[in-house]
Amino acid sequence: MERQILINISQLVTPEGSTAKHGSTMNDVKKIEHAAVVVEDGQIAFVGTTEEVKAFYRLEEENVRDLAGHALLPGFVDSHTHFIFGGYRPEEFMMRQKGVPYIEIHKAGGGIQNTVEATRALDEEEMYRLGEIRLKDMLSMGVTTVEGKSGYGLDCDCELRQLQVMKKLNEAQPISVVNTYLGAHSIPVEYKKDPEAYLDFMIAEMLPEIKKEKIAQFTDVFCEEGVFTGEQSKRLLSAAKEAGFGLKIHADEIVSTGSAELAAELGAVSADHLLAVSEQGICDMAKSETIATLLPCTAFCLKKPYAPARKMIDAGCAVALASDYNPGSCFTNSIPLMFALAVIHMGMTLEEALCALTLNGAAAVGMEKEIGSIEVGKKADLVVLSAPKYEFLVYHTAKNLVCEVIKNGKTVYQKGKV
Ligand code: NIG
Ligand code: FE
Repeated sequence: MERQILINISQLVTPEGSTAKHGSTMNDVKKIEHAAVVVEDGQIAFVGTTEEVKAFYRLEEENVRDLAGHALLPGFVDSHTHFIFGGYRPEEFMMRQKGVPYIEIHKAGGGIQNTVEATRALDEEEMYRLGEIRLKDMLSMGVTTVEGKSGYGLDCDCELRQLQVMKKLNEAQPISVVNTYLGAHSIPVEYKKDPEAYLDFMIAEMLPEIKKEKIAQFTDVFCEEGVFTGEQSKRLLSAAKEAGFGLKIHADEIVSTGSAELAAELGAVSADHLLAVSEQGICDMAKSETIATLLPCTAFCLKKPYAPARKMIDAGCAVALASDYNPGSCFTNSIPLMFALAVIHMGMTLEEALCALTLNGAAAVGMEKEIGSIEVGKKADLVVLSAPKYEFLVYHTAKNLVCEVIKNGKTVYQKGKV
């Protein structure tokens, strides 16, 4: 057995439990000063104080690490990204600064469609290479598990290529990658005149193939005015549910489409965005197990009002935070920026934000039993900060304080080392 003991941790902070935290319980995080953690074969075997660990374990030099001056947190789970894509769209970003709305660019055939063309042009090797670079960057900000969506192929070949590449990255890279099929990201030009036929194609051909190949766990849809209607989203997601997929929805991002309500009705694992969520949507989500995944960096980049995080948590929703990293609406994967926006601008407490990016993020990818907290029996996915207290996460605003990342008990990133 391989054992590693971390001692003298200035402060250990973690939510606790194996299910998503709803409402006010998101604040219940455990804090231990002068903490210690024992890792055995990649799993957490003990969590307590350094005094306790000294009483229970024999400390030998070769397996003990002193983390004085450092805070320790669970690895972050970024539960909503589109990190496999070709090309970039800086021109659109500049158009938006001049006042052209995101959705107008989309309706005029730009936006996602531009990225689809550039992504279709990538072969598997190039896609993998880009994915690897982007995962390394995420890792340096403490992300140990990431959800990745397809949705920039929209045809059979390129959608499958995106999913296969993410599967390979999951197997070979230190970050866990959870796959989501997002064929319903946009109606491809080939089907512009007949969106229903595109739905038929996804339901009859794509879902069975993806299920057979076991290359995605979730199916997602961009339910938005001018993209997929509520009815179309319901048709696709009902079929996906029947085929055994977990469900996710890009919900109420720009206008309220009733998609938070739909997510709750269908028992979706998460409804994401929710900038324009209705009162009814909040109420339905609060009563359901569906996680409200909020993406503050997207609201920031699109200059839109943030999702009503405070209202949702006070109503009893389980809230997760994620980056939405993509080349269009939100070309940033910055975890430090996300913490800053959530706490300074959305009225979340730092404890809520931490829970949202760890345990609730894990629940949003169906992994809340294995990861998301520092507890006995869970995987040792850990983030070491270069600061002694976790308050520095927001106090040292938008600064990346991660100095080491441990995945399954192994150090996979150390600041300043390749
Ligand atoms: O979550 N809203 C749809 N999808 C992405 C944007 C994708 C893109 O613009 O390329 C989002 O914001
Ligand atoms: Fe998205």
